[in-house]
Amino acid sequence: MRKPLIAGNWKMFKTTAEAKVFAESFKNIYESSDIQVAICAPFTQLEALKDSFKDTDVKIGAQNMHFADEGAFTGEISAVMLKEIGIYYCIIGHSERRQYFVETDGIVNKKLHKAFAVGITPIMCVGETLEQRDVDKAFEVVKTQLMGGLKDITTTQAESLVIAYEPVWAIGTGRTASPEQANQMCGFIRDVIEELYNDDVADKVIILYGGSVKPENATEIMNMEEIDGALVGGASLVPEDFIQIVNF
Ligand code: 13P
Repeated sequence: MRKPLIAGNWKMFKTTAEAKVFAESFKNIYESSDIQVAICAPFTQLEALKDSFKDTDVKIGAQNMHFADEGAFTGEISAVMLKEIGIYYCIIGHSERRQYFVETDGIVNKKLHKAFAVGITPIMCVGETLEQRDVDKAFEVVKTQLMGGLKDITTTQAESLVIAYEPVWAIGTGRTASPEQANQMCGFIRDVIEELYNDDVADKVIILYGGSVKPENATEIMNMEEIDGALVGGASLVPEDFIQIVNF
């Protein structure tokens, strides 16, 4: 049985003081259940969030990491550094990183290898642009991202992988993929995983949908058979909104 996961991606929002305020409000309304909850925050907030949520089962994640353990990479943070402070998840290959920071499938692949090597669970993002969907290339694009990103990732590693399908055209636009469209792609991703590994791995991989998930559409999305959870941007910044998605 796959455990549903609702993960917030705070992107470049909130100061540490604001993160602490969020944590206090969220803890007051959050009750642990069989849903795994995670918050992926900017680096500067991670230790404060770890501390705020230490007596809960909410897991803390980062949004990026470098694939080297250390080195002359000004401005970067390594997976080893994240592991040291107890970080559980790391988002890898988000479309904003692919788009603005030229993150290729090859770089995503190196980061996935490093995350698994140090024991951080990657949330690997895939998804097509509107232009690619309009010319019927969505499935091909997502398959290429999966094959490139997962090159030489072992069966055992792949079993603990989280994949987030985030169509670029649905991110921050208020335009959600229809539950059917999202379900269809998540099912396709599971088929590709079965092809690359086996049906046991395909059965274990957690596949999230991301892109304008809000309290109003969370239930419908979460009820889809192939969707195991959500990666939530804007609506994860407000405790009262995020809790409604967690309690879908
Ligand atoms: P929004 O929920 O703000 O559309 O962002 C989605 C996203 O990019 C999560 O990673």
